[in-house]
Amino acid sequence: MFELLKAMPADPILGLLTQYRADSHPQKVDLGVGVYKDPQGHTPILACVKVAEQRRTDSEDTKVYIGPTGSPLFNQLMTELAFGKNHVALIANRIRTVSTPGGTGALRVAADFIKRCRPNAVLWVSDPTWANHTGLFEAAGITVKTYPYYDYDTKSLKFEQMLAALNQVSKDDVVLLHACCHNPSGMDLTTEQWDEVISVTAKQGFTPLIDMAYQGFGDGVDEDAYGVRQMAAAVENMILCSSCSKNFGLYRERIGACSIIGKDAAQTDVAFSVLLYVVRCIYSMPPAHGAAIVETILADADLKQQWLDELAVMRNRINGNRSMLVNKLIENGVEQDFSFIAQQKGMFSFLGVNQTQVETLKSQHSIYMVGSSRISIAGISESNVDYLAKSIASIL
Ligand code: LMR
Repeated sequence: MFELLKAMPADPILGLLTQYRADSHPQKVDLGVGVYKDPQGHTPILACVKVAEQRRTDSEDTKVYIGPTGSPLFNQLMTELAFGKNHVALIANRIRTVSTPGGTGALRVAADFIKRCRPNAVLWVSDPTWANHTGLFEAAGITVKTYPYYDYDTKSLKFEQMLAALNQVSKDDVVLLHACCHNPSGMDLTTEQWDEVISVTAKQGFTPLIDMAYQGFGDGVDEDAYGVRQMAAAVENMILCSSCSKNFGLYRERIGACSIIGKDAAQTDVAFSVLLYVVRCIYSMPPAHGAAIVETILADADLKQQWLDELAVMRNRINGNRSMLVNKLIENGVEQDFSFIAQQKGMFSFLGVNQTQVETLKSQHSIYMVGSSRISIAGISESNVDYLAKSIASIL
């Protein structure tokens, strides 16, 4: 049965974790997987999460099945967090949300849902996009194509080309957009650019699928949801996949959400019944623990404020790391302009070096990043930035 299988290569992102852990170099630097790290290189459990978890442990009295939707309270609070409490689509009862096993689970649910809506729909993703997007949607039998997005030469958006491509997308297709903190480029749409993308979407009539894995890591929880909220107010149908991995630091709990917006309440109910069927066929129902933590935080004004404060600390540290690296490169005599890193948003940027240089950084300096030269900015710290900048200077 298994004899025809060919071994798969290690995942381009997750594979780095194993290599990094096995490396005994005392100055090794992990800029691979997108996880937040504190100045000591540790990924802490947020204090608000600890409090919420304790409360749930004390009050939880059953482990009975939760059902395919997951926790209704979590779904409601996540919907409000993403769209805002008074969003027109919410007031019109046009949004339905399910809890999912992480943002990836949300994307897989969305993929199977799209396949049931339009079996021949093409999914358009930005070039480049998160390394797992293509494989994930192709695994659901969806054809994936790309639209222009990041210009590696000028380190800026190919916005006119992006718009031109979107102007050709059929109404039966789906376009995946990153809500904020574009992974892997860190290059986000401005609010004006979002407005233009939204008017093309409404004009062409294709369905937007927005992936919001980093809400709060760019400019703030509400600011980062600008595109989501404006889009949801302008189109008939939309899908949103969100994740609590990064902004709640709940990586291993696997908690996220998938929301769909229908034309009206009746259409949304039909679509939701299909979404629930999709969930039942993949994993039956989502894990409950992460959702319980998040809903405990979001439902309590003090805990929510504490979470927003802790999120701001993570966001500010990452932004600080961006300018710290740029300054250190200049201090180390690097003449090449890296100022774009300080202007980009969220967890990632491309360093902009080639694959051989990425390999040299790994083999000779024990500095780990994705082969595309995507660096996870949270892995930079006061204690490694000098070594990092010197090493980068040496390979340029
Ligand atoms: C990343 O892009 O590094 C994260 O989203 C982790 C992952 O699952 O790839």
